[in-house]
Amino acid sequence: MRAVIVCTSVSHGNTKRIADVMGRVLEARVVEPEQVDVAELAAYDLVGFGSGIFTQNVHPRLSRFVQSLPEGRYRKAFVFTTSGLPEPPFRPHTRSLVRLLERKGFDVSDTFQCRGYDTWLPFKLVGGIKKGRPDATDLEAARAFAEGLKARALS
Ligand SMILES: Cc1cc2nc3c(=O)[nH]c(=O)nc-3n(C[C@H](O)[C@H](O)[C@H](O)COP(=O)(O)O)c2cc1C
Repeated sequence: MRAVIVCTSVSHGNTKRIADVMGRVLEARVVEPEQVDVAELAAYDLVGFGSGIFTQNVHPRLSRFVQSLPEGRYRKAFVFTTSGLPEPPFRPHTRSLVRLLERKGFDVSDTFQCRGYDTWLPFKLVGGIKKGRPDATDLEAARAFAEGLKARALS
């Protein structure tokens, strides 16, 4: 299976830590959007897209990158995010990116979400929230998620 993970992690590296764990399981490179060879993307069996959440959305560098992709015959994708606050049940953080990827032609099979250290104002004033996240339990959940992706892809 050929996999790659496209990740923006600009705040504390929270999402990159998740991406690295998934990347080890999937034997996938973790790259910034600007490092992706767009022409090669359709050749991957599985593409992961990860980002922290910024004012309820994935980072604009990641959404702009996906918007810029030509519609095509891509294969499977998954989306993961880290955020200071829990996902609003009525508006999952991954939803708009999942929809955008589906419009581009990806089959989005799974999503993963976990909490991450957050120093966004006004939380900065109290030293941030979710300090230490993602923690060992989060990383283990990310590893198990990626193992599941791999098992399904190979079955
Ligand atoms: C400017 C800014 C805006 C943020 N907006 C949100 C938000 O709307 N909801 C939320 O849950 N977390 C928000 N956060 C917290 C980040 O999503 C969280 O720290 C995330 O783990 C950052 O990931 P990264 O370190 O990989 O960039 C925000 C953080 C910053 C700096």
